[in-house]
Amino acid sequence: MSKTEKPLLQAFKGIKNDSPPFWFMRQAGRYLPEYKELRKTTKGFLDFCYTPEKASEATLQPIKRFGMSGAIIFSDILVIPHALGMDVRFEENVGPLLTPVKTQAELDRLNADNLLSHLAPVYEALRLTRKALPENTTLIGFAGSPWTLACYIINGKGSRDFQDVRALATSDKAFFTNLLSLLCDAIAKHAIEQVKAGAEVIQLFDSWSGVLSQAQFQQWVIEPTRKIVSRIKAAHPDVPVIGFPRLAGCKVLDYVEQTGVDGVSIDGSVTLDWARDNLQKKVLVQGNLDPIVLTYDKPQMLEQAKKILESFSEGPFIFNLGHGVIPPTPIDHVQALCDLIRNHANR
Ligand code: CP3
Repeated sequence: MSKTEKPLLQAFKGIKNDSPPFWFMRQAGRYLPEYKELRKTTKGFLDFCYTPEKASEATLQPIKRFGMSGAIIFSDILVIPHALGMDVRFEENVGPLLTPVKTQAELDRLNADNLLSHLAPVYEALRLTRKALPENTTLIGFAGSPWTLACYIINGKGSRDFQDVRALATSDKAFFTNLLSLLCDAIAKHAIEQVKAGAEVIQLFDSWSGVLSQAQFQQWVIEPTRKIVSRIKAAHPDVPVIGFPRLAGCKVLDYVEQTGVDGVSIDGSVTLDWARDNLQKKVLVQGNLDPIVLTYDKPQMLEQAKKILESFSEGPFIFNLGHGVIPPTPIDHVQALCDLIRNHANR
């Protein structure tokens, strides 16, 4: 049986379909009533993520409703610190809480020996999902990038600017280098294992790369990402890797030129013209509708989406948001966006 390649994968090769492929970050989650129902059946968020049937069902829910071209596996970036032995909890209305690791002695207590067995339910969820997906839908695996994982590991919770993390990384360079190196290894292994279990694309989330100076961005975002991408490529040369250095502005160009990613996810920190003229000449661009506009201003959202579609129609492109779908997003706004993208004729 010869099947033509899936549209989202074709986009990386510059092959165009009638309309561009699309998916949305956090397309599974609390804006969907069916997710809220399913989520009620398990107390802890990580327990939910580690139940393959439920994680797979949550992955499929938005696909069943909206038919996106890509399905991102339902999991979290913080499964890696958890698999390394850290205490990770998710508190309602607070977000993630971890017991911070700030010293070499604390770091020495983390242990990567059981990484893959701890994360086996994620791989099982990928296998189940791959079997259940429509044949045109691409399965996306993901991991947090070292800098963003280090932010949560050191700070133990979210922060506006992770000042304390930057301070520690600058004052205790040996500790921070060791932490990044442990994370690079764990992230590469997790990504490679996800591909073995059926992931066809890997996205690396660097949600907090926007708080860094140019030199820090080079050392803590670009260098580690380059190592991870080269390890994924060594194991699986044909699997596209999308990087998401969130809020990095014009530093995204260095990222694209130096990390070896096949695609870059962009947000509102770059303009459409700049991204088209600088980034899209080198790699596939994915993005960048503002999730706040998606939620709160439907007419403006549709206008903005049209501009994005027009800006990137000449080159390799996947439609996405600039960040994740937020819980108050009305379903009919998401439906209208999907309809608009599907009806957009590629030139
Ligand atoms: O649909 C998808 O996008 C797949 C699943 C997914 C989740 N988290 C599920 C989730 C993905 C890709 C992530 C990535 C993630 N997790 C990131 C990177 C992307 C970004 O948002 O910048 C980060 C920083 C995290 C860490 C994290 N997990 C935070 C800060 C929170 C709390 C914030 C919140 O929305 O409550 C989580 C919890 C989380 N991860 C939820 C979901 C659906 C909400 C918890 C729940 O539904 O019970």
